[in-house]
Amino acid sequence: MFTVIVNLKTYPETIGKNSKTFMGKISKIQKPGYELKIASPSTSLHYSSIYEEIIAQHVDHYPPGPFTGSVLIEDLLESGITASLLNHSEKRVGMDNAIKTIKRAGELGFTLYICCETLEEIEKLSINGAKYIAYEPKELIGGNISVSTAKPEIIQKGSDICREHGSTLLVGAGVKNADDVRVAKNLGAGGILISSGVVKAKDPLYALNSLMI
Ligand code: G3P
Repeated sequence: MFTVIVNLKTYPETIGKNSKTFMGKISKIQKPGYELKIASPSTSLHYSSIYEEIIAQHVDHYPPGPFTGSVLIEDLLESGITASLLNHSEKRVGMDNAIKTIKRAGELGFTLYICCETLEEIEKLSINGAKYIAYEPKELIGGNISVSTAKPEIIQKGSDICREHGSTLLVGAGVKNADDVRVAKNLGAGGILISSGVVKAKDPLYALNSLMI
């Protein structure tokens, strides 16, 4: 299965009441060979009772206790959310926190998609037991040049490193079309992350559908 994570971020189109409508539209898509997940803003995570494939955009490693403003794994699990992004370029937590979170997620049976920006970080995360690593070159996020076009060698090397350590590499940034997906897949990636290519498209449903061929 090739994973497609639509990161809704916190665009006007995907917050508040718009998030439910948006999720409702895209969650209907089903394509053989693809699994679709939606990274939801925190305030819309409760829609996981309607759309099963919702994941959080951020989580913290703290156990239940006095940690104001934190998002706890235990709390997400209790709400039916079994996975989260972590360390996105727009919400970096740093390697030490990422490694602590990998440990706690492993203990609690929680899935993490840990974002990173370099080959060195891919290696470090995979050595430290990350199951899913999401490589996103920061400078390409939200733009029109895709990670597949600009960083093929990193996708290839990163996928090899991940395979060696039993991890899966996902890639994101600037992904817009089926070619970007095909190249990433051929280079060994197990999935992609996409945001503006779907959220900001004239027809998000069409944009997402046409990626998965
Ligand atoms: O998490 C996915 C995201 O950062 C990629 O954003 O807008 O380049 O698809 P975008």
